[in-house]
Amino acid sequence: MSQKILVTGGAGYIGSHTSLLLLEAGFEVVVVDNLSNSSVESLRRVEKLTDQFIRFYKVDLTNFDALSDIFKEHQFDAVVHFAGLKAVGESSQIPLTYYEQNIYGTINLMKAMQKFNCKRIVFSSSATVYGDPASVPIKEDFPISATNPYGRTKLFIEEIMRDQAIADSDWQIVLLRYFNPVGAHKSGQIGEDPQGIPNNLMPFISQVAVGKREKLSVFGNDYPTPDGTGVRDYIHVVDLSDAHVKAIQKITGLLGVTTLNLGTGKGYSVLDMVKAFEKGSGKTIAYEIVDRRPGDIAECWADPALANKVLSWKATKGLDDMIDDTWRWQSQNPLGYDS
Ligand code: NAD
Ligand code: WQD
Repeated sequence: MSQKILVTGGAGYIGSHTSLLLLEAGFEVVVVDNLSNSSVESLRRVEKLTDQFIRFYKVDLTNFDALSDIFKEHQFDAVVHFAGLKAVGESSQIPLTYYEQNIYGTINLMKAMQKFNCKRIVFSSSATVYGDPASVPIKEDFPISATNPYGRTKLFIEEIMRDQAIADSDWQIVLLRYFNPVGAHKSGQIGEDPQGIPNNLMPFISQVAVGKREKLSVFGNDYPTPDGTGVRDYIHVVDLSDAHVKAIQKITGLLGVTTLNLGTGKGYSVLDMVKAFEKGSGKTIAYEIVDRRPGDIAECWADPALANKVLSWKATKGLDDMIDDTWRWQSQNPLGYDS
């Protein structure tokens, strides 16, 4: 019988891609999402692409009773936990909401898991937990810190999970620290669909390319980097999702807490991304240099060696794939899932 996986936040950007890959790998997928930042259309498209069914519950993780009802109905082999709020700037304006949704939501989820004896979880952490790293590439044993409430929710959740694994050694926990996820499924059917003005670079560039925004603001060109603009480790969302499938396949052999960086190990600057997108899309990306964005760091890229070793996983898609796939999704769905 196939294993049953609960995917929280499965209607979202990374969750929908991971659900697709889990189905393709032969898992049964149940999704819980409150749709606060997504559309159920993403899951309908995953069903069409895979010709398989996803059981969907529109439930908020802060609702313990509703969550318990789902665990009563299904015996899960493991949980992949994406659900949460993720806008760094917004997290400073409404920190209580971020702490409630991300931390209280996760505590509820883990209490339900404990109660129904499902103690395997893969969690979406972030490279943001490294704060401003002393050097690059970043390894998992670098010191962790946070500079905003969003980052603190990731940091606290990691600590909560470590404490739980100490208290009950049956727990098997994989903390995946993502660098900068971009791209879309090669079908062009699912992708990133940010509400309002995108906070992140890649969706902003693609909205300029499609004519939805006039120009990109490049946040600073006086960083100590080769061209003065910020350098990041962009990773294709399908590579990232593939690492989740591998983590689920290997989790029974991983005791306690395993912490892994998910990146490519390569850094690209903002202007590298602009140039590559112009080449891939054939469109001109208008931009202007503006002040640095508060809280941004100069450069950040991963040493992904540990994930390569532990998961037998490696990012295989390069910058051209990231851009071609983003552009296919954006040009076929100029208004996202509302197109
Ligand atoms: P997303 O917003 O597309 O997906 C998150 C999903 O969770 C959404 O569908 C949203 O509706 C749902 N959700 C939010 N709060 C919920 C709640 N209380 N109950 C039920 N569902 C809820 O974001 P994403 O980019 O797919 O990110 C997934 C995870 O990865 C998040 O935890 C995010 O913090 C983390 N992450 C993302 C990035 C990135 O740049 N995209 C980088 C590092 C880590
Ligand atoms: C990338 C580069 C910007 C937008 C964020 C979160 C991090 C993680 C991933 C969740 C930087 C520059 C951006 C724009 C720009 N998310 N930029 N103009 O800041 O590396 O990481 O998303 O965990 O926690 O902080 O990603 O895509 O916002 O920025 O010049 O309009 O692009 O300064 O150098 P970031 P980003």
